[in-house]
Amino acid sequence: MRTVVAGATSPATAGAAGNANGEWPAEGRRIHSCVAKGSSMKPLIEVNQISFSYGQGPSQSVAAFTDVSLRVYPGEYVAVIGQNGSGKSTLAKHLNGILTPTRGDVWVAGMNTKDASCKQQIRRCVGMVFQSPDNQLVATIVEDDVAFGLENLGVPPGEMQERIDEALEAVGMSEYRHRPPHFLSGGQKQRVAIAGILAMRPDCLVLDEATSMLDSFGRAEILAVVRRLNQQGMAIVTITHHMSEVAEADRVLVMHEGRVALEGTPRELFAHPDQLEALGLDVPEASRVAQQVHARIPAFRRDAISVEEVVAEVDRLAGSGGERRHG
Ligand SMILES: Nc1ncnc2c1ncn2[C@@H]1O[C@H](COP(=O)(O)OP(=O)(O)OP(=O)(O)O)[C@@H](O)[C@H]1O
Ligand SMILES: [Mg+2]
Repeated sequence: MRTVVAGATSPATAGAAGNANGEWPAEGRRIHSCVAKGSSMKPLIEVNQISFSYGQGPSQSVAAFTDVSLRVYPGEYVAVIGQNGSGKSTLAKHLNGILTPTRGDVWVAGMNTKDASCKQQIRRCVGMVFQSPDNQLVATIVEDDVAFGLENLGVPPGEMQERIDEALEAVGMSEYRHRPPHFLSGGQKQRVAIAGILAMRPDCLVLDEATSMLDSFGRAEILAVVRRLNQQGMAIVTITHHMSEVAEADRVLVMHEGRVALEGTPRELFAHPDQLEALGLDVPEASRVAQQVHARIPAFRRDAISVEEVVAEVDRLAGSGGERRHG
């Protein structure tokens, strides 16, 4: 059961005073959720009150974020949103030790990302997919590209083939294995980049705006792959500016000026469009439509957040002959 908690300072402390009526917490601008999936498990990733600054020395340093905490549980789907420059990518790079915090600690499967001896194991556990499909592909043939990371890990050749087959299959790119990546569409390239990560058999996939350079078709391809991986038990952390993608997540973290401003389920967050707007963010189109239809037809559920939910609601009311209010 997810609960909305007012005034908590970290997910670890969430769990008491629930806000059943969906009101914004009076004493703070934070919404925290207890995640049913994770509540009895150990977190896969634990980010404990970290701060990070780029550059060295007080005069050159740029604070990217301050006092950020986050837990990602096995199998969870977390979205991170926020305006440009709010610290999302910097946070993502902390999740597998590309960057290490200036203050605080990040633990991945019990390993501290500051421990250099754990670096490779941490990267294997948490894979990262970036924005540009072109910048992530290094080989001239698709399957060589997927093999690249495995070669670096020293995986034996027999097992390597098995992992490449499995990874290409998982992203639906097996038939392109002998093709040069530059003939592929953006979405296909990004699927190959994901396959390269999957071949490492990670527990968590972090996507930093992985769909932002793709057309709607390519975006849908990636979302379908990510959804399937999550259904199979892989934890997902996705950074996106597309609110319709956020609706897919179990939990959303809203960054604002280098701090976590809000946290909650997509439904909890999208119930407060004004507060999101104050942070320079929007709700998904489907959510806006549901709220507008609800204003005219009160029986129409106000909290639908996806096209599928809006359509289901139309079907439900069409079936039950729901009342229509004019004016
Ligand atoms: N390599 C860098 N050197 C110095 N400052 C940086 C560097 N990368 C990011 N920053 C600064 O750190 C802050 C956070 O940047 P970050 O890229 O993490 O934000 P973001 O939320 O990912 O933004 P966007 O939505 O534009 O991708 C910003 O003030 C940014 O200018
Ligand atoms: Mg970014």
